[in-house]
Amino acid sequence: MKNLLVTGGCGFIGSNFIHYLFAEPNFKGRVINVDKLTYAGNIENLTDLAEQNQDRYIFSQTDICDRDALDRLFEDHAIDAVCHFAAESHVDRSILGPDDFVKTNILGTFNLLEIFRKRVDQVLLFHHVSTDEVYGSLGETGLFTEETPYDPSSPYSASKASSDHLVRAYHRTYGLPTTLSNCSNNYGPYQFPEKLIPLMVLNARAGKPLPVYGQGLNVRDWLYVEDHCRAVWTIMQKGRKGQTYNIGGQCEMKNIDVVAMICDILDILEPVKGSGPRKDQITYVQDRPGHDLRYAIDFSKISRELGWQPAETFESGLKKTIEWYIENTDWTDRVQSGAYRQWIDTQYENSG
Ligand code: NAD
Ligand code: TYD
Repeated sequence: MKNLLVTGGCGFIGSNFIHYLFAEPNFKGRVINVDKLTYAGNIENLTDLAEQNQDRYIFSQTDICDRDALDRLFEDHAIDAVCHFAAESHVDRSILGPDDFVKTNILGTFNLLEIFRKRVDQVLLFHHVSTDEVYGSLGETGLFTEETPYDPSSPYSASKASSDHLVRAYHRTYGLPTTLSNCSNNYGPYQFPEKLIPLMVLNARAGKPLPVYGQGLNVRDWLYVEDHCRAVWTIMQKGRKGQTYNIGGQCEMKNIDVVAMICDILDILEPVKGSGPRKDQITYVQDRPGHDLRYAIDFSKISRELGWQPAETFESGLKKTIEWYIENTDWTDRVQSGAYRQWIDTQYENSG
């Protein structure tokens, strides 16, 4: 892999992945980061890295729905591998407005595959990053395996399911060298504060309500983002072509327990004199429509075949994450300004 195209490299996982790659001694190639810079993309996540690696890092503000622009990029930079993160990624937004999810997640992926198909003799790999949400919801027991039938509940997960099917079809039909991963909920630095963990950290620190959907009993499996990046890179190097690998954090938690842990850690790190525990800020709000009850991952395939397993515990990963948000208030202030601020405030008003 000499010229690796990373899509969505200015988002949460994409920017962590690029940081991870440049710290990996066995990655010697160039990264061409293609990102549209939606509200979720932040070029500043990679400012230092870009300055220190001017000969090996290129950024292009490009929409993956623009096939001609992508085609030129492939040509200009002799792209020989792709790691595809770019997506609209937030379930609640997909419920409020699915259009961009269908465009970016389905048509954007289709565009990339079509460009790759034209260059099937030059390309080494197309790695597609997807979610465990394509499998739908589990009951109280059981785990998602790579064989679990797809049963998506939200426009987000349906659009990701569609893109996964396209990737597999392009492998079977045109012989494209693809790999695919479905992972659980990531957390860590640079996550946009609309997702559960960073939203709760910021609200808790600001003395605002902590909006827990329903009774807070829904269960998610939490994966530290660096563990995820290592899994993706492992699959890209050693994964069998045409195969899917599930990636999990071995860390099932009820939402209410996650929020309580955030409150407890913050109470220790930043005690507030004269006020009660931050748990008092928890507010139960109207449940998300079609809210999946439980996600849990069987990651024995990637563990058995490629020797990967998560390294971070939730306690240590959550503490590191909270500390990052405390130390990076410039970042959080900037991403929370403007249009995003107005949108999220409306959500709080609506959810009571
Ligand atoms: P994110 O929302 O933080 O970042 C997405 C990035 O894609 C942003 O930089 C955005 O600007 C860019 N983007 C959006 N539309 C684009 C377009 N049309 N063209 C080019 N760039 C575009 O998302 P994330 O949390 O980093 O997720 C990355 C990938 O991982 C996604 O494919 C998501 O489905 C998958 N995933 C995420 C999680 C999670 O917990 N965050 C879990 C499982 C899978
Ligand atoms: P989220 O971070 O949006 O990820 P996903 O929906 O992809 O799992 O939400 C994680 C869980 O937290 C999910 O069960 C919904 C719940 N949640 C809340 O209870 N309150 C919130 O404000 C948010 C954003 C999520």
